[in-house]
Amino acid sequence: MVDQVRRAAILTTLFDDETFTVLSALADLFSRYESIPVRAILSKTGMPERKLLYELDILSKEQACVRSASGYRMTMLGLDALALHQFSSAGLVEKLGPIIAMGKESDVYEAIGGRSSLALKFFRMGRVSFRQVKRKRSYLANEGHRWLIANVRSAAREAAILQKLNGKGFSVPTLRGRRYHAVLMGMELAIPLYKVRELDDPEKVMQKIFDALRRIYIEAGLINGDLSEFNILLTSSHEIILIDWPQAVTTDAANAEELLERDLMNILAYFSKRFGIRQELPKVLKYVKCIEPNL
Ligand SMILES: Nc1ncnc2c1ncn2[C@@H]1O[C@H](COP(=O)(O)OP(=O)(O)O)[C@@H](O)[C@H]1O
Ligand SMILES: [Mg+2]
Repeated sequence: MVDQVRRAAILTTLFDDETFTVLSALADLFSRYESIPVRAILSKTGMPERKLLYELDILSKEQACVRSASGYRMTMLGLDALALHQFSSAGLVEKLGPIIAMGKESDVYEAIGGRSSLALKFFRMGRVSFRQVKRKRSYLANEGHRWLIANVRSAAREAAILQKLNGKGFSVPTLRGRRYHAVLMGMELAIPLYKVRELDDPEKVMQKIFDALRRIYIEAGLINGDLSEFNILLTSSHEIILIDWPQAVTTDAANAEELLERDLMNILAYFSKRFGIRQELPKVLKYVKCIEPNL
């Protein structure tokens, strides 16, 4: 499989400032136009037309955008390159490391910035599978415009939630920045719970999870909404970190109760199946909502 971000990183070294000026203009305009008219890019950049067409040609050749009958379409690769370029120009990312997780909805890379290890998450909802690519051939041209918008929106949402949760001692990653569909966070030296085979004190870990959820529910008014052993990380000192927040809802949302129940049920199912721990959902629900003081 093509490592798209690696390709995007190469593009950042290939494109000069003027090419990036045009790419940023496309990024500013794509939410309004599926196919961006040249006149809109012209007025955005103020570049002479010949120069602009030359830059668009470079971008198209590298598939950072795609030419269509009525203009130019932004591509995910173009957006990847622009996000990387901006993180690097802002001094937030100095070096891109290996991919650490390729999920259904995101690709997460290790990165170095400000002397610390970072996690760089690119949203990939609506990604076309390898098989589909082979079938469709020109997959870049077929990339869903609405998916580009949805991915940017999800990244913005996750960044806003992390920002709200940071600095208050909640067990979530630290946000370092967000560009388009990419969220930059502190890298947690921890592994997802689903990979954990043995625990000295599973009850204690489970309790820590419920305590963290309770604080977030009561003090921040938020419910993760996608919690499971895949979105809970465990450090070597058995601290837990809750990740993956784009779909979080506030506790007054219409479906809040349902989502909280599902989150808790997933956790109970995991601890029951793997460690034989029994705990009643209604009791945990009351605890997390602070109706009961103890579990
Ligand atoms: N801040 C982080 N530190 C360390 N690993 C992370 C971090 N964020 C994500 N990951 C890794 O990337 C994987 C996918 O991230 P996640 O936010 O759950 O996205 P997805 O929507 O694809 O599930 C996680 O399971 C975890 O292994
Ligand atoms: Mg996840």
